[in-house]
Amino acid sequence: MMKLVRKMDTEQIETKNKTVVEIEKLVKEFRIGRFTHARVVHAVNGIDIDIGKKEVVGLVGESGSGKTTVARVVARLYEPTSGRIILNGREIPKRMNRKALLDYRKHVQMIFQDPFSSLNPLHTVGYTLERPLKVHEIVDGNGRKERVKELLEICGLAPAEKYIDKYPYELSGGERQRVGIARALAVRPQLILADEPTSMLDVSIRLDIMNLMLDLKEREDISYLFITHDLAAAHYMSDRIAIMYAGHLVEIGPADEVINEPKHPYTQLLRKAAPKPESGLKPEEIDIGGEVPDLTELPSGCPFEPRCPFAKPKCREKLPDMVKVSEGHFVRCVLYSGGELQ
Ligand SMILES: Nc1ncnc2c1ncn2[C@@H]1O[C@H](COP(=O)(O)OP(=O)(O)OP(=O)(O)O)[C@@H](O)[C@H]1O
Ligand SMILES: [Mg+2]
Repeated sequence: MMKLVRKMDTEQIETKNKTVVEIEKLVKEFRIGRFTHARVVHAVNGIDIDIGKKEVVGLVGESGSGKTTVARVVARLYEPTSGRIILNGREIPKRMNRKALLDYRKHVQMIFQDPFSSLNPLHTVGYTLERPLKVHEIVDGNGRKERVKELLEICGLAPAEKYIDKYPYELSGGERQRVGIARALAVRPQLILADEPTSMLDVSIRLDIMNLMLDLKEREDISYLFITHDLAAAHYMSDRIAIMYAGHLVEIGPADEVINEPKHPYTQLLRKAAPKPESGLKPEEIDIGGEVPDLTELPSGCPFEPRCPFAKPKCREKLPDMVKVSEGHFVRCVLYSGGELQ
């Protein structure tokens, strides 16, 4: 497993204490099918996460656990079913008109998994980066070209002249993702929601992209929600890690603790199943055994109970509360109610 400890000085710790975004009891349901076949997919079932200034929170979970949906709701690409999103202490209205959305997107941006499909193939790199500057009226006409160059260069695409007139198909995967990052950065956002930004990239360049994101965090005061299947990548990037299962947060805590002393049985299984680099397996191919939950018919108790090696009858009674196990480390599991193993 990749291991690298990033040191933090006290000043950095204090800055992190300033909350940028608070996500409270966030719920997102999708209605699918019609008439007698109508069903509700409970994709996100009451998520609470706060992210501090210059903090990276990793969001990890199996395929279908609701990670992308959380990011898309926080980016307001989807309307939440219920719950609150509070940015800089102000609640974001459930419904937003175009102007309010534009304003919100000055603060909150998203980086997508597939840099190829997220860039318009008909637009040059220069056009792609100029557009948000224009739409959001960040800099006037004269300053725009300069800012585009600056964005390219801080994202490692230097000299900018080499890239500015290129089309996405003329770039490598890593370069395309750098353009995606530069586009997100254009509006000087506070929060970037990064949805598996490296999973489509060659293994050899994943680390470069993660390092770029960490550099930008310091340089531009960015906070990240970093979504990944890969526990090692989450560990490398994150200050805290949140683990999702069936639309619920089951564990959240300091990255080192969640990785080295995982508390929830699900996190423990994920940790055990994480592929070793030499196996050649991709993190998304993790298999912890058992059936993945049906999100249209979630049990009323712990959603992980059917797959849990420690399941007890009481796990089926109700959704366990989040229990504090140590400073800043919380687990949704009856094994810890009362603060200790029972
Ligand atoms: N627009 C939609 N309409 C209906 N169901 C949806 C929609 N978007 C997501 N879902 C469902 O919500 C659940 C959560 O999906 P989501 O994409 O958020 O998971 P994920 O954790 O990002 O998975 P992956 O790791 O595969 O990207 C899945 O069951 C998915 O099928
Ligand atoms: Mg996803």
